[in-house]
Parts: sequence; structure tokens; C-alpha cells
Amino acid sequence: MIAADCQLCGSFFSCALVCRFTISTSFRAAHLSKNLRSALRKCVSTSLRSTSLHSRFYSLFSEEDDNMSGIISSTNGIDVAAMRKPYKEGHESFEEGDLVAKKPMAQFAAWFKDATELKSVGEPNAMTVATASKEGRPSARILLMKGYDEKGFKFFTNYESRKGQELRENPYVALCWYWEPLSRSVRVEGRVERLSEDESTEYFHSRPPASQIGAVVSNQSRVIENRAVLTSKDEALKEKYLNTGVTIPKPNYWGGFRVIPEVVEFWQGQSNRLHDRIVFRRPKQDEVIDNKLVYQGEDGWVYERLSP
Ligand SMILES: Cc1cc2nc3c(=O)[nH]c(=O)nc-3n(C[C@H](O)[C@H](O)[C@H](O)COP(=O)(O)O)c2cc1C
Repeated sequence: MIAADCQLCGSFFSCALVCRFTISTSFRAAHLSKNLRSALRKCVSTSLRSTSLHSRFYSLFSEEDDNMSGIISSTNGIDVAAMRKPYKEGHESFEEGDLVAKKPMAQFAAWFKDATELKSVGEPNAMTVATASKEGRPSARILLMKGYDEKGFKFFTNYESRKGQELRENPYVALCWYWEPLSRSVRVEGRVERLSEDESTEYFHSRPPASQIGAVVSNQSRVIENRAVLTSKDEALKEKYLNTGVTIPKPNYWGGFRVIPEVVEFWQGQSNRLHDRIVFRRPKQDEVIDNKLVYQGEDGWVYERLSP
């Protein structure tokens, strides 16, 4: 018990430590009754009044935070911890027999088509792309998938951007889509290869001229002084290229990547949280496919079901 601990603790500093421990564990985990929280508040307030730690600790359990779910989920009157949306019901489960093919790209094509057919999915091709530095520090951002086929998934970007640099040092990448109205998500792990210059150039020129100019304007991921740096460059390039018949040259630092998938997971959410997860992967060397836990797929893939 916090109050007892604090009363027993002889020194000011060990009291602070007890409180710090308590705050980060039991208190934050919302296991304390209102009375205990009130005792803790008093204890910390008295003990730390004259220290700079006081305000930091006290703010963690001010009167305003007396609502327990507020402590966990915090701010703006939104009870984040209580947010919970129903997914699919039992009869809509995603079973192995529902796979349209025993290979991931065909299954992706089917689910992607379902997503594109729903107006409520605003940008079905928007996906999270996670990269990592060579030291293994991850970063993620949203990109638009611009194509897929048997070989993999394509996207276009600035090769000198943060992601571009990370992919040069470490070609491993992860993708993730979430089509919320369908309660479906797809996860991909793989490695990238650059698309050919020809393919990147062809796609670049298929974009609206303003987007082409945008790609030229932006030294993506670099720090700039203000927005005017962009707009003035943009205006100058528009004057040079728009309605002049001059082709906007694709910068050589801009182009496409193909993500060659090594693992592809299809997730479908169930309201009771017994979600379906079917994962395609390449077999390990000499792996025995028992068709019990691991099933033989097509085109060299195997698949298995993961616990949700
Ligand atoms: C919906 C959406 C689509 C985006 N599409 C792209 C894209 O196709 N290519 C791209 O380079 N950045 C795209 N971005 C911007 C990226 O999220 C990101 O800000 C940018 O690529 C710089 O990332 P980096 O600094 O990690 O390299 C998109 C952002 C959003 C929200």
C-alpha cells in the first residue's frame, strides 16, 4: 500500500522512489481505489512540496484526473480506452477455405478489390511503409501503393528522403494496410529493389503536371526555413513548365521501389477478438510441410494460421 510505504519510509528520497514506482505500476494500471489515490496525492504533495519533482508527480494525480479511465486514456474528454468497434461476427470468419488462391498476391488482389469497391474506404491504396536504419531504428509513414503484381508492391518516392536513405542502407521493409469498414488488414515483410529508370520515368510523366513539379520542388525530408521556400520554387517551375509544352524532367533522385514479399499476413477482425490470421511465407530449408500446422501453398509458398 502506498500510504503505508510512504509512512514507513524514513527518508524523503526513498519516499519519492516508492511513489515513482507506484505511479508507473499500480497507479497507472488503475488498480487503486479513490481513497488510496487521495492518500497518495496527499503523501506526495506533502513530501515533495518544496521540490521541482512536486509539480511533475502531483500533476499525475490532480483532482481533475480522478476519473480512472481518464488517467489511463487521458485528454480532451475522450475516453480512448473505452473506444471499441465491433468487427465481424462468428459466421463471417475468414477460414482457410475462403482463400481465393493458395498464394498471397492473388489473395491480396481479392481483398484489395473488395476495398476499392467500398466508397467508405477513402484511399484503399494508402499503406504504412516501415523502414529501419542500418542500426535497426524503425520509422514508418503512409505512402500510396501504385501497383502490384506477382512480383510485389510498387511505390514511388524521393530516393534521397529519409526512407530512401534507410532503404539504401537496409533494404528490408514492412507494409501494412487497414481497411477499416471491412475489418481487414494486410501485413507484408520483404525487401525492396528499385524500379527501372524507364518505369519510374513513365510513371512520373503519367502524374498531373502539378504533382510532377511538386516532386521537383521538394527535397523530401530536408529541413527548410519556411513554406515560402517551397511556394516560390513551385511558382518559378510552374512558369517554366506549365502550358509551355516543355516536358518536366524527372529528377534522378525520384523513382519507384518494388517490395518483394517474403511474408504476407491476412488479418480479419472478429468482434469477440478471436481474429483470423492467415500468413503466407516461404518454407524454411528442409522444412516438413505437415498440412496440419503448415500447409502447402502454390508457387513455392506455404501458409499457416496464427493465434490472434
Ligand atoms: C495519404 C498519404 C499518401 C502519401 N503518399 C506518398 C507517396 O506516394 N510517396 C511519398 O514519397 N510520400 C507520400 N506521402 C508522404 C509520406 O507519408 C512522408 O511524409 C514522406 O514520404 C516523407 O517520409 P520520410 O521523411 O520518412 O522519407 C503520403 C502521405 C499520406 C498521408
